[in-house]
Amino acid sequence: MSQTLKLNKKITTFNKKISIDGDKSLSIRWALLASQANGKSRAYKILRSEDVLSTLSCLKTLGIKVKMNKEYCEIIGKGLNGYKYKNNLILNAGNSGTLGRLLLGLLVHANKKIKLIGDESLSKRDFSRVTDPLNKFGATFFYKKKGNLPLSILGVSPSKPIKFNEKKGSAQCKSSVMFAALNTKGETLIKAKKSRDHTELLFKYLKIPIKIKKTKNFDYIKINGQKEFSSFDYTIPSDISSSAFFIVLTTLSKNSKLLIKNVNINPSRTGILMILKKMGARILLKNKKSYKGEKVADIFIESVKNLKAINCPSNLNSSAIDEFLLIFLVAAKAKGVSYFKDLSELNQKESPRLDWGSKILNMMGIKTKLTKNSIKIYGQPDLEIKKPIIIKDYLKDHRVFMMSTIAALTCGGQWKIHDKDSINTSFPSFLNIIKKISSKP
Ligand code: S3P
Repeated sequence: MSQTLKLNKKITTFNKKISIDGDKSLSIRWALLASQANGKSRAYKILRSEDVLSTLSCLKTLGIKVKMNKEYCEIIGKGLNGYKYKNNLILNAGNSGTLGRLLLGLLVHANKKIKLIGDESLSKRDFSRVTDPLNKFGATFFYKKKGNLPLSILGVSPSKPIKFNEKKGSAQCKSSVMFAALNTKGETLIKAKKSRDHTELLFKYLKIPIKIKKTKNFDYIKINGQKEFSSFDYTIPSDISSSAFFIVLTTLSKNSKLLIKNVNINPSRTGILMILKKMGARILLKNKKSYKGEKVADIFIESVKNLKAINCPSNLNSSAIDEFLLIFLVAAKAKGVSYFKDLSELNQKESPRLDWGSKILNMMGIKTKLTKNSIKIYGQPDLEIKKPIIIKDYLKDHRVFMMSTIAALTCGGQWKIHDKDSINTSFPSFLNIIKKISSKP
């Protein structure tokens, strides 16, 4: 099968109802926490993507029983510190920063040296952001190149609680330290710049001793470690970051409507909805519910004609962090000049996404002004793409592939998008859902 997706026409008007794959952040967190719980946990509607499968395979390597069938994923946890550390263990986090960083937090007690590896993209990413605080708990790290995979961790027992000032707004850093605190006697204190709070909500649900004080820009988190917790079942709601591709597809298409069922609308993840609404998008949340501390709703979207540019407030950055490629695409079709700032973290993702966003818009004929941490986008509501576009050598960043697909389907032009299989990282049914939406009613 060809690995290149060829597209040469816009999607036609649609009016559909769809379901999207399970949330990636919640699927990985469920699996890691279930592995530390006592007994049998089950997850329904878990995301079956490579990042989650890498998580399950790392847990198996650590001696945890994992069963996957059509209906659910089952993990038999052996309590805190229940992993089995054989000699010369190698764990492969694949493409997943979340898995690599959160798992290191759980390994601060490993009594043998364990090697962590990842794919080409993950091996370029910064790990010192978690190894520095985990080192303060007492773990030792061994590298070829400081801060990068492959690295080895040798844990310590007992570990010491730490004070950690998380300044990047990275949920992965915050959660890594929270996971290390789980089995550390005493009080770990974290001052964290706002970021997604799934780990906090799961800790609360599991009655792990956690106290949180929220201020405008920071959360103050206290965790008292070494309390065992029971196994738990969880039905994973749909991923808003995956839904975002279809929110933008509908917004930018002609006379179309879409209903996406049962999406996680945790406020620390819904920046895309706020930003698009400010730009004039028509998005409605229906059927709002709470589920084990998380919020869930159906999202209804209608296309709009007159989108306007935005000067995006940077306090929305963290809640939209995985959606900026798509937001840049909307800015490309909006009237006026949009401005996005304080976005240096975007270049720390699976590929340098701030740079890629600008590059793709330029290929489409959109003018941008790019700095290390900001971008100005000169929108063209009546954009006609003149030159053929080839998207390749982008480190197989799943979100680059999917954003390019949405750009092709909404802006037209002749596109060749390489490395189709990149979707398997986070959203294996992406192209099938596109087919479903494109098919006649
Ligand atoms: C994630 C946090 C974000 C996000 C990533 C998933 C998580 O990364 O970009 O896709 O599940 O904690 P940072 O925490 O590094 O910003």
